[in-house]
Amino acid sequence: MAFFITFEGIEGCGKSTQAGLLAKRLTGRRMSVLTTREPGGCPIADAIRQILLDPANTTLVPRAELLLYAAARAQHVTEVIEPALRKGLIVICDRFTDATLAYQGFGRGLDIDLIHTLNQVATGGIQPDLTLLLDMPQEEGLKRAIQRNTAASLAHEERFERETLEFHGKVRNGYRQMAGRSDRFRVIDAQGNIDTVAGRINQAVDEFICSRNAAP
Ligand code: TMP
Repeated sequence: MAFFITFEGIEGCGKSTQAGLLAKRLTGRRMSVLTTREPGGCPIADAIRQILLDPANTTLVPRAELLLYAAARAQHVTEVIEPALRKGLIVICDRFTDATLAYQGFGRGLDIDLIHTLNQVATGGIQPDLTLLLDMPQEEGLKRAIQRNTAASLAHEERFERETLEFHGKVRNGYRQMAGRSDRFRVIDAQGNIDTVAGRINQAVDEFICSRNAAP
């Protein structure tokens, strides 16, 4: 049965690691899984990712940033996500439309209705079935993200890590507000070691799969 799971959260919350672990676990249960990420997920969207995350692009204006995320997403949905769902795969995506609402909407202050419209245009209406919001204080997330970037030589992808703590606080609050308004979200406490957090995610995903299987 095809379904679409997204991971969301602030920098350094551990979602990429957890998305990989979940994919491994579901694959081990003989489910067919595709993992992907945004921005990126296919060559054209990966090229846009480089522009978006390059800290040298200090003059990129918020509206151009928003349109680049939408352009990358339109390509990624058409080339990767939509065909995978049509084939019956479980798609696990590291960030999706909620990231644009959290970062460009709540973080940068761009118009939320405009972002909803652009998300609709970019996705053709495809929405996640389940969104796992990995939540932790922005101070801790940023500290972890900076340590990770240094260890993995990811300074060329650091444009958002260089934003203020206040910006990341707005992003976190935005995510939490969205989660409070939609039953597609599960808020996962992302503090604790990798296995502890993975256990919380597995429980949420198993409950979701059971409810899907039980649906008439
Ligand atoms: P990543 O760190 O999860 O790879 O995501 C890259 C950055 O892009 C991260 O700082 C969040 C940001 N982002 C947005 O600002 N808007 C979006 O729509 C997406 C998908 C990511």
